[in-house]
Amino acid sequence: MDCIYIDPPYNTGNEGWIYNDNVKSPEITKWLGEVVGKEGETLDRHDRWLCMMYPRLLLLKKFLSDTGVILISLDDIEAGHLRILLDEIFGFKNRLATIVWNTRNTDNRIKTMLSPDHEYIFVYGNSDRSKIQGRIIDRSDFKNPDNDFRGPYVTDPLKGKATKTERPNLHSYSMKKPNSDLIWEPDPAKGWITDEEGYEKLLSEDRIWWPSNNVTGWPRKKRFLFEAQERMPASSFWKDFKSQSGARELDEILDERVFAFPKPVGLIQQIINYCVPKDGLILDSFAGTGTTAHAVLKQNSEDGGNRKFILVEMDKEISTKVTSERIRRVCSGYKNSKNEFIEGLSGDFQVFKLSQEPLFNASGHIRNDVSFSQLAEFVWFSETGTGYLGKADSPLLGIYEGRAIYLLYNGILKDLTEQGGNILTKQVFDILPKFEGVKVIYAAANRLGGKAKRENIVFKQTPYALEV
Ligand SMILES: C[S@@+](CC[C@H](N)C(=O)[O-])C[C@H]1O[C@@H](n2cnc3c(N)ncnc32)[C@H](O)[C@@H]1O
Repeated sequence: MDCIYIDPPYNTGNEGWIYNDNVKSPEITKWLGEVVGKEGETLDRHDRWLCMMYPRLLLLKKFLSDTGVILISLDDIEAGHLRILLDEIFGFKNRLATIVWNTRNTDNRIKTMLSPDHEYIFVYGNSDRSKIQGRIIDRSDFKNPDNDFRGPYVTDPLKGKATKTERPNLHSYSMKKPNSDLIWEPDPAKGWITDEEGYEKLLSEDRIWWPSNNVTGWPRKKRFLFEAQERMPASSFWKDFKSQSGARELDEILDERVFAFPKPVGLIQQIINYCVPKDGLILDSFAGTGTTAHAVLKQNSEDGGNRKFILVEMDKEISTKVTSERIRRVCSGYKNSKNEFIEGLSGDFQVFKLSQEPLFNASGHIRNDVSFSQLAEFVWFSETGTGYLGKADSPLLGIYEGRAIYLLYNGILKDLTEQGGNILTKQVFDILPKFEGVKVIYAAANRLGGKAKRENIVFKQTPYALEV
């Protein structure tokens, strides 16, 4: 993952968030047992919040690429605790920045002496700073008006800061635009930023941006996005976004007010612009209303990027009625509150449902109570990378890109055959729905011998061929 952004519950005391590790994967169970221990069940509010965050952050760290960046939204309530937790998990040396964003411009002094008008976004890298430098860049300033093959760039002044007496070598030459008569003499008060040798080098590397006339404009030096590693020009104070705008944006897309505090799209878009390369992947595992997906689609539509997103939302109501519905409407277009049609941003996505329990036990075997349709969904996805839309009422799950995909499992053949039909024997093969081309068959064992090859069968043994 190039970037992870999360916006966990802030622990205000009113949210009713649940400390519920439904996904009892062996890893999480082990972590909770070893790291959090039994205390996790009885500690107070802040400890419980930390117990909820800790295994999630450990898992997210595993998903983050070596040069990846993680950003976490929060307000003052848990900021101090989270900072310590992040230092422990990601390492103090991997702290990159703390962004402060101005959430409101109306006074909110109801509960406290001061009006809390800002929130934080903690930014950490996954490895030492040198690998991450340059990952957080304000890409919006980089443009390519003359189609330079090196890609987008910004320009810096070539005018210097020293008088002729102070630095004579920075006043000793004039600049001439190639293939033109345009000449610039050094400004007597400032000279150039480089000496003549430096200028010749810039010229030979075609690194000078030339204005169209020498009266109003000055030549400037090109600094390309691909070499922006040395600098991290994005500011840590973001004042242009307000929380209320997130709610208004959502109201325009969905018909009813369904979610209290979605983040403003512009805020997340700025994160994406700064931290996700144009073909990068971002994960948001506290998806809420899907603002992250909306922002990815918007940024892609504005800069021609091909960024992808993975969102996870644990609340079923929200994920079906809000998250996926919002993304669907943003992709394909919707009518806003004034009944105007807003064009879709295009783009595509798939929705998957995670099962309550993992399919596999700790030793990697399929759990006894896994149904045929559950395993069918899994097999289909690992074979095709797409969601299963079939009825799971036949061992032939479907045909994908010219290959038929079969699953023999859990009595799909009505227990008429050996081991409930889970073994590919000649007898079983004869009663399978027919297909002429390549047949990918998942079963517990293969007793077909040489016939398998003659019949164009690619055999995959369960559970070993299933990626856990
Ligand atoms: C603050 S909201 C995220 C809002 C989102 N950024 C947006 O702009 O719409 C937090 C989300 O985390 C989910 N959540 C609550 N408790 C959770 C938990 N223990 N683990 C994972 N997600 C949780 C909630 O269902 C909620 O959708």
